[in-house]
Amino acid sequence: MTKILMVCLGNICRSPLAEGILKSKLSEDFIVDSAGTANYHSGSAPDKRSIAVAKKYGLDISNLSGRQFDVSDFDTFDLIYVMDHSNFDNVVRLARTAKDTSKVKLILNEVHHGKNFEVPDPYYGGEHGFENVYQMLDEACDAIVKNLI
Ligand code: 4NP
Repeated sequence: MTKILMVCLGNICRSPLAEGILKSKLSEDFIVDSAGTANYHSGSAPDKRSIAVAKKYGLDISNLSGRQFDVSDFDTFDLIYVMDHSNFDNVVRLARTAKDTSKVKLILNEVHHGKNFEVPDPYYGGEHGFENVYQMLDEACDAIVKNLI
């Protein structure tokens, strides 16, 4: 069983959307979860704007609950997709082994190989930022699914 973790900073905007989108494209033979590198929103539901854009595309992410990335996630998950360079640095800093480090990937590199593009943090912007993030993550999740199946 392949286990995939989506990671952003707060676990309320980008990574819960990525979790919902990827889950919707995979069977229950895969486990998909998300976490934030920070603990500000532990136990919180996703941001209303992420819930709204997910709903627009037929996904319900309203029941997800924020949690902080933990070093034990390196043992649980096979693939750890991060949204931006800061998330990458914060997760890799916790890696104990080269194997841990090798699990951490920038999610947009699945689409734009080797370009190291980031999924921008939409938290301080408007609705359009969330639509933009949705489209980026939808494309990236299609690429992830192609590689997994
Ligand atoms: P996320 O967005 O990392 O995509 O969940 C953010 C959510 C909250 C904050 C920053 C980014 N914050 O500073 O509270």
